[in-house]
Amino acid sequence: MSKLWGGRFTKETNQLVEQFTASISFDQRLAKEDIIGSLAHVQMLAECNIITEEDADTIKSGLQSLQKKISEGALDFHVEHEDIHMNIEKYLIDEIGPVGGKLHTGRSRNDQVATDMHLYLRERTVEFIELIEAVQAALLAQAKDNIDTILPGYTHLQRAQPISFAHHLLAYFWMFERDKERLYDSQKRINVLPLGAGALAGTTFPIDRDRVADLLQFDSVYANSIDAVSDRDFIVEFLSIASITMTHISRLSEELVIWSSQEFGFIELDDSFCTGSSIMPQKKNPDVPELLRAKTGRTYGNLIGLLTVLKGLPLAYNKDMQEDKEGMFDTVETLEGSLKLLAPMIETMMVNRQTMRKAVTEDYSNATDLADYLVTKGLPFREAHEITGRIVLYAIKNQQYLLEVRIEEYKRFSSLFEDDIYEILAPEHVMNARNSLGGTATSQVKKQIVKADSILNQHD
Ligand code: ARG
Repeated sequence: MSKLWGGRFTKETNQLVEQFTASISFDQRLAKEDIIGSLAHVQMLAECNIITEEDADTIKSGLQSLQKKISEGALDFHVEHEDIHMNIEKYLIDEIGPVGGKLHTGRSRNDQVATDMHLYLRERTVEFIELIEAVQAALLAQAKDNIDTILPGYTHLQRAQPISFAHHLLAYFWMFERDKERLYDSQKRINVLPLGAGALAGTTFPIDRDRVADLLQFDSVYANSIDAVSDRDFIVEFLSIASITMTHISRLSEELVIWSSQEFGFIELDDSFCTGSSIMPQKKNPDVPELLRAKTGRTYGNLIGLLTVLKGLPLAYNKDMQEDKEGMFDTVETLEGSLKLLAPMIETMMVNRQTMRKAVTEDYSNATDLADYLVTKGLPFREAHEITGRIVLYAIKNQQYLLEVRIEEYKRFSSLFEDDIYEILAPEHVMNARNSLGGTATSQVKKQIVKADSILNQHD
């Protein structure tokens, strides 16, 4: 089959070269965007009298019929035509004859592919915002059911201070909110049109780039044609936002794995989100959060991969840049699959409130409050810390928790202790005493829930 660029060549392309340089196996995912971009381009060509209205109409209907065939899966793409752009152009010429060859007037595959990628990521970004919101909604629903659920909060994975389970879940709500903000912000840079940059230097034809931007609903056009065809930083930005989001997903997943272990027993994932063992009949494995945790790795890989492709690359277009696609598609698929699973998994997880509560009574996570008690009685915090440390050591030696230490024993450490210490040390009191803005006290958590609710409802 003859090549669209065959004129300058006297030999057939080596078969291995053909396969090695082709991107059609993966960039066929851009077929829809490629046609949308071409429809706008051809309309502008006619409006600027670069081609006739009649030719433009023929090309448009040819493109539309191809679009239909592609969406029905009725077209096979060929390696001989290298990529999605030339496959579509070839089909167009087959469909409507040589007039199809006018479509590529005033444009290059370099500005064309960049435009396709902008269109593609623009749509994905909107979808990801919605998918993240579904995860946030699931976290928020669980938080609403667990405002009074107390569990130990950890630092260094050592029990630190009792917290509300809602508070812990909402921490992720805010992380995902920032991921969404990053996606919203990236739209500014995604929504800039490269088309019209030509191969790198612009075009000799009197095109109207603003008109194409209008037709494709871009906010603006790239100001510099070299930048337009060389820039892939909008993809790097997406890959980095996706990596940050996956980091959040992996941290939450890790907690789900830990919490559902027998050692913790804080939650139980729904049977429909777990798998069994082929040998050990008792097993119920948290495969889904484990894979979410692991899949984060490939999103980092895709980010580093593209950064490395771009590093040191001279302007303008280089074939290296074709390597921007597979990693991007992979990250899109990974993030999409992860978010789609995470939301229902959170929604259906069972919370073992008793086990969490028991954990809080069987630890020393109320020690800070013992020290704070002495401070309210006038002792400098540093001294109060020292005394409390000694009390904890004493209690550990005697196999007691702080609520079990008798008042006479307390008084041996400081005469400031009174009977009211037991009230102070009760887990509910300890949690609700942290009533500073953004703290774990029930009243603060309720405020957070109101705020979170209004964020989710804004976009309804
Ligand atoms: N398939 C190519 C890519 O994805 C399209 C641009 C080709 N441009 C060129 N000058 N060879 O990068």
